[in-house]
Amino acid sequence: MLDLAIDKTHDESRQGEAFASLETDLIPFSKKFYIESYGCAMNFADSEVVASILKNNGYGITTHFEEADLIFVNTCSIREKAEETIRQRLTQFKKVKRYNPSVLVGVLGCMAERLKSKLIEEEKLVDLVIGPDAYRTLPHLIEEAESGQKGVNVLLSREETYSDISPIRLNSNGVTAFVSIMRGCNNMCSFCVVPFTRGRERSRDAHSVISECTQLFNDGYREVTLLGQNVDSYQWIDPDHKKVVSFAQLMEMVAQISPLLRVRFSTSHPKDINDDVLFTIKKYDNICKNIHLPVQSGSTRILQMMNRTYTREWYLAKVDRIREILPGCGLSTDTISGFCSETEEDHQDTLSLFEYCEFDLAYMYYYSNRPGTLADRRFKDDVTLEIKKRRLQEIVDIHRVHSLKSMQKEVGKIATVLIEGDSKKSEKDWAGRNDQNKMVIFPKEGAFKKGDYVQVLIDRCTGGTLLGSICS
Ligand code: SAM
Ligand code: SF4
Ligand code: F3S
Repeated sequence: MLDLAIDKTHDESRQGEAFASLETDLIPFSKKFYIESYGCAMNFADSEVVASILKNNGYGITTHFEEADLIFVNTCSIREKAEETIRQRLTQFKKVKRYNPSVLVGVLGCMAERLKSKLIEEEKLVDLVIGPDAYRTLPHLIEEAESGQKGVNVLLSREETYSDISPIRLNSNGVTAFVSIMRGCNNMCSFCVVPFTRGRERSRDAHSVISECTQLFNDGYREVTLLGQNVDSYQWIDPDHKKVVSFAQLMEMVAQISPLLRVRFSTSHPKDINDDVLFTIKKYDNICKNIHLPVQSGSTRILQMMNRTYTREWYLAKVDRIREILPGCGLSTDTISGFCSETEEDHQDTLSLFEYCEFDLAYMYYYSNRPGTLADRRFKDDVTLEIKKRRLQEIVDIHRVHSLKSMQKEVGKIATVLIEGDSKKSEKDWAGRNDQNKMVIFPKEGAFKKGDYVQVLIDRCTGGTLLGSICS
């Protein structure tokens, strides 16, 4: 976990991952698509919706872009570096046209929304540009592009949640899955591009969330992660306005599918997570005791400029409340160093907040100005790159101590681990996670299989992994 957290500081976002699905690999399709995804879990979940739409329109999937008729890149705009990486990848894909002139290259997701037809007209990098709310129009846009026109649809919607589409699980371990419960964001944090690329917040029909999770359970999955940019503001009102389902209620409904189905969720917002949610987590053994609560800065002045709508004291009180109601709950965060006008004093506030909270995991970034955001329009990006990076390193150094301490605390304890598959390093070992989302590696013993829960006695750890052996 520590490695991932540190990677994130330099890597900016999840790197492109090509996807395969056994289900579709086995069926002979006349045309094939290749999809590579970047950014947050919501983007990865969207790629599974896209795969479903394409499959229903006669396309098969391939993990080799060289043999694809359609190449899609599901993109992220969150930081400048993420966009640069994707542009380089698009330039590589453009070269495929030299030996396969009929191949179509398409940009999906947040960069499509931010850059719109610029990618087609000025940079001539791609044939299709499709924003996150326009995936249903993919088959039509592909037809247009095949006839030589450029296919563009970046319209954002106030209603689209793709609730009736059954995602095709890509690169799945068959045990854990993401389930989107909402789309968009209404928060307008001043540094953030998401409200512009993903549009207004809307919650998905609660019945469709429950039926997707039930289907996953019946298919052998044992963990779902409910996804939204701000899950605590989930609110689904049924069409007759007779029922309002809150996030706490939705989570409870998912937890009741089966005690064998683990429930996780991300992301929580400090201003919105409430006692109802915390007591629901407490009530169910199968709701994981682990909360991702991005802080972004430890300075109230900076938090106000970021439009986060809480103070340092509010955040600390939330952390205290979580630990009071859910002792031992895992806590992770996101933070940004070097936001506009950040002083050494502001930075010290972030360091001291980290010292107080002792997060188990943190995603740490330096500020990247995004064109068109509130911060871009209102403030000067006046902290030098050198200072941003130095402050980031200081946060990383403090966090490294805490995350190691958090791993060491588990040594000697017995953890309930859900087996996700072979360990990356050896087929002789299983890999799985404990309740607090910590990776656990242990030798295969007995008749256990993927998707089983086992009790593991933790006897040692590294910065990112717990190691032990099955004890029952
Ligand atoms: N909705 C979540 C929240 O409220 O924190 C996550 C949003 S974003 C997808 C993930 C993280 O990227 C943020 O929590 C923030 O730390 C970071 N981030 C967003 N915009 C950024 C920017 N302009 N520069 C650096 N980091 C940024
Ligand atoms: Fe961005 Fe803030 Fe929305 Fe998170 S809550 S997606 S940081 S605007
Ligand atoms: Fe990136 Fe869009 Fe997610 S900007 S982090 S892919 S919502």
